[in-house]
Amino acid sequence: MKRILHVVGARPNYMKIAPLVREMAKHHEDFAQTLVHTGQHYDDNMSKIFFDELEMPRPDMNLEVGSGTHAEQTAQVMMRFEPVLIEFKPDWIVVPGDVNSTLACALVASKLGIKIAHVEAGLRSFDRTMPEEINRLLTDQIADLLLTTSREADENLLREGVAPEKIHFVGNTMIDTLVRLVPIADARWPSLRADFNLDRFVLVTLHRPNNVDDADGLNEIISALNEASADLPVIFPVHPRTRQRIADHRISVRESVRLTEPIGYVDFLALQAHAAVVVTDSGGVQEETTFLGVPCLTVRPNTERPVTTTLGTNRLVKRNSSEIVSAIRDAAQHRRDSKNHRPELWDGRTAERIVSLFREL
Ligand code: UD1
Ligand code: UDP
Repeated sequence: MKRILHVVGARPNYMKIAPLVREMAKHHEDFAQTLVHTGQHYDDNMSKIFFDELEMPRPDMNLEVGSGTHAEQTAQVMMRFEPVLIEFKPDWIVVPGDVNSTLACALVASKLGIKIAHVEAGLRSFDRTMPEEINRLLTDQIADLLLTTSREADENLLREGVAPEKIHFVGNTMIDTLVRLVPIADARWPSLRADFNLDRFVLVTLHRPNNVDDADGLNEIISALNEASADLPVIFPVHPRTRQRIADHRISVRESVRLTEPIGYVDFLALQAHAAVVVTDSGGVQEETTFLGVPCLTVRPNTERPVTTTLGTNRLVKRNSSEIVSAIRDAAQHRRDSKNHRPELWDGRTAERIVSLFREL
């Protein structure tokens, strides 16, 4: 029997961990599972709704760290997580992605001699101004099992001196969640479409500090959305960081850009699947649109997920209003056949492969 403690903290973590929790539960004779939420994200629409929709068990514990500066948030997670590890004494902790909770929990576990499995290891933007890049680099240096979503990620890790036997290319657990819930999203679509009363639309998400914290940057993107929405209406579920910044910077948004609260996973998936174009700076959304075959414009100078641009539907665009508008108009004319372009092992069975690995360890 292996004692496994899964960590989630922020919105994209739930989709990555849920399939593992489900798969390990099928082998309850082999695994005793504990789920810890750090509380980095805490609004119902950034947290609770996903537990319901993904049918995840309620966390055994919520550390309730909330928001703060990077140092405050990371330190709070570490201080509150250490006694949990001392009490539960798991054999392994499983940390997903690249958020502050990922690194904070990994660091605590490494000092206590508890093994660390990193889901989505090896992604690199090579841009150290991104807090996520620092979280990825450091977590991978101390992890014992590095579970990757692409062969490029394996190469990044090998180049950084990670021992080859620790690296396992298993695929993408976020896509496991998508594959499982696509039928439910499809069933939801008719009523969602009636609510929005739109056939063709652009779907937008934005939350990177580089894009939204700076008034000029955010203005550049929103003026592009304002202009593009004259031809194609925009649906924009607004991340709490971004909502705050739109208010702080007093940025005006046209009516044809429909701002909503963050949306639950199933409805958001249905919107992605039916969007003419998605404009984003999210990591997960770049991957999901590639799987769905929906054109995606990523407003960033780089991506840690190059497979979405080489194989998938993703294109990087400069944060320049006229370039964004013409990229939206151009992308709206294309819809690719997704089936030929799905990255290797993004097949809905990644959690099965990870659980087999754990059973063999
Ligand atoms: C975090 C991650 C980012 C990830 C994103 C997913 C880090 C460094 N960043 O960014 O990698 O892509 O989550 O969404 O870990 N807030 C609320 N309610 C909430 C959560 C946040 O109002 O439930 C507001 C607070 O004002 C907070 C701000 O959003 O200060 C930013 O939250 P934080 O978790 O620090 O970073 P994100 O921008 O969400
Ligand atoms: N997502 C969602 N509702 C929204 C916006 C995003 O359910 O309103 C989902 C999206 O489908 C993906 C995940 O949240 O599964 C991506 O999280 P986010 O963009 O917050 O973080 P990132 O991937 O950039 O770290």
